[in-house]
Amino acid sequence: MKVLRSVAEARAFRTASATASIGFVPTMGALHEGHASLIARAVRENDLAVVSIFVNPTQFGPQEDFGAYPRDEPADLAACERLGATMVFAPTVDELYPAGDATRVQPGPIAARLEGAARPGHFVGVATVLTKLFAIVRPDVAYFGQKDFQQLRVVQTVARDLRLAVRIAGCPTVRDPDGLAISSRNRYLSAEHRRSALALSRALRATEEMWSRGERDPAKLREHLKRLAAGPGVGLEYVSVADPLTLDELDRPADRALISLAARVDGTRLIDNVLVGIALEALP
Ligand code: PAJ
Repeated sequence: MKVLRSVAEARAFRTASATASIGFVPTMGALHEGHASLIARAVRENDLAVVSIFVNPTQFGPQEDFGAYPRDEPADLAACERLGATMVFAPTVDELYPAGDATRVQPGPIAARLEGAARPGHFVGVATVLTKLFAIVRPDVAYFGQKDFQQLRVVQTVARDLRLAVRIAGCPTVRDPDGLAISSRNRYLSAEHRRSALALSRALRATEEMWSRGERDPAKLREHLKRLAAGPGVGLEYVSVADPLTLDELDRPADRALISLAARVDGTRLIDNVLVGIALEALP
């Protein structure tokens, strides 16, 4: 497995394997089972698999955890090697954002709701770094987790709008056995706060069951989700029942929905979602 640090080397890697299909998994490191499922799929479905590890400063707000974001490159490289990645691209900030860098990719309304409303500028940072990475790695397919559903939709929309030659594949959320969606930020949680955080996935599951029993009124679904998720130790930021394509809040019954929430547990910001009435693979 190669570990490349410069844009020039990563470009040369692509040029040298021009006829191979490349599956790409962009990450910010601190790799866990969620990332592993994406990397394993990239390895399985392509000739070569590339993983990027880059904690992207432009997607963090001034009050967010860029400095404190967990970093463990030796463990990450070992995981990539074990999973069968061909190349890891781990550039420095100066490599991806050269002196004077001021160009930004501004996604449209898909980035304005939910996480975009809660984290101003976040998706500009995400869209910008991914556009750079796609231009350097030139993958055939890039893999993204449902865990960050809005990110998946933003990337699909940016790739379509900019006519990028990459297919964006969504991968199901990997959960711990107790249901908690795996996240690099879970390591900030004490055992007690982890128990509080379980209310989130349980509330989503229960709301999904309510949908399965035939409830389609978005206000009732939201109400149910909110009541169950707002347990002790959980500071709910939002609950949402939205159109899974546009992410607009539903104001009438629909045959598909993204049911999602964001909350703080002991200062750690957690998000999770379930998709109902449409398969992840069916997203346009
Ligand atoms: P990061 O949080 O490291 O996540 C990298 C990828 O792993 C994303 O596509 C994310 O959705 C996916 N992922 C995280 N937890 C998951 C889980 N439990 N199950 C399945 N997939 C999961 O998302 C980012 O990095 C950044 O925004 C990035 C796309 C790299 C741009 O900087």
